[in-house]
Amino acid sequence: MRLVPISAVHEGNVLGQSLSDESGRILLRKGVKLSESFIRQLKTLGYDTLYIEDEYTEAEVDEVLKPKVVAEIIHMAESITKHLTQSRPNQRNLNDSINRLTSILESVLDDILGSPDAVTNLLTISNFDEFTYKHSLNCMVLAVMLGDKLNLDRESLLNLAIGSVFHDMGKFFVPKEILLKPAKLLPDEIELMQKHPREGYNYLKKASQLMPTARIMALEHHEKWDGSGYPSRKKGEDTYLHSRISAACDVFEALTANRPYRSGWSVSEARSFVIAGAGTHFDPDIVQPFSRLVNPYPLDSFVRLSDGREGVVRGVNQTLLDRPEVEIFVEGGRTVTSYMENLADSNDVLVAAVIHQFSTQAG
Ligand SMILES: [Fe+2]
Ligand SMILES: [Fe+2]
Repeated sequence: MRLVPISAVHEGNVLGQSLSDESGRILLRKGVKLSESFIRQLKTLGYDTLYIEDEYTEAEVDEVLKPKVVAEIIHMAESITKHLTQSRPNQRNLNDSINRLTSILESVLDDILGSPDAVTNLLTISNFDEFTYKHSLNCMVLAVMLGDKLNLDRESLLNLAIGSVFHDMGKFFVPKEILLKPAKLLPDEIELMQKHPREGYNYLKKASQLMPTARIMALEHHEKWDGSGYPSRKKGEDTYLHSRISAACDVFEALTANRPYRSGWSVSEARSFVIAGAGTHFDPDIVQPFSRLVNPYPLDSFVRLSDGREGVVRGVNQTLLDRPEVEIFVEGGRTVTSYMENLADSNDVLVAAVIHQFSTQAG
């Protein structure tokens, strides 16, 4: 299966991953053939990308986070947010919710660490009210995988998971019109938006039983390695390791998501952006494992090569993620009998772009 923007989904495509509503109920099951009216409805519901299957897809990818678990995490996170944004939260209820969330995340750690597909199979939940949760949960999966690559112990990984879920909690303080504004923000709106790290920190301070890492991640995830970030222009290792991990995952996830004023970048473009930011925006020691973690061209992706040929990714070279094995279907602008091309064996051909259909299918 492969991930495509909803604008590129056609009637007759088969859904590659079940879709559920916020309470974990299945809306559409994996394997359903999509009709025009299903596709229209999914757009109205706020889905921006979908996993689909068609005659070119071969790979099976398992769901990392089960819809029920996602619904439970969102439910607990909402309840905790509600408590913390009150002036005097009920500490007993707050404690209960935090304990519950911690134990769900503990079990989720095993699912994430045990899944080779975790990074290529991020959530595609709908994008309106829960959009901050989609972002936070995807950041959580990435951060845990990255933390594991950096050899963090289990307790650190759990703290990383909790901190990721709440890193943008301060956005609760930002008016919805600004969060969902379908255009670039004006200077005074940016100023308000940039208050969310400190607001998040202040909210989370009220949850004294949460490890301090969570509120520190909220405070520091927009700081940059070269000191040009916000709110405190902290530099290099003046921020916590957890915050530096969160910074890379945060930017990557945000770039790949659709926004009201632009469509999301492909995984390979967002990955290149993070790699290019090593030493300026991001900690180079984190970018290194990140680049090995995120595969820019997952199996079944459609790609165009630098010589104009087009095909489908069929094999991944673990040591050269940029150079996959591609089954070529289009050459010289024409459909050809397919054959394999292993880019690891050739120096002069590269992947030029991720595409969503072959040029011969256009129209
Ligand atoms: Fe943020
Ligand atoms: Fe974020």
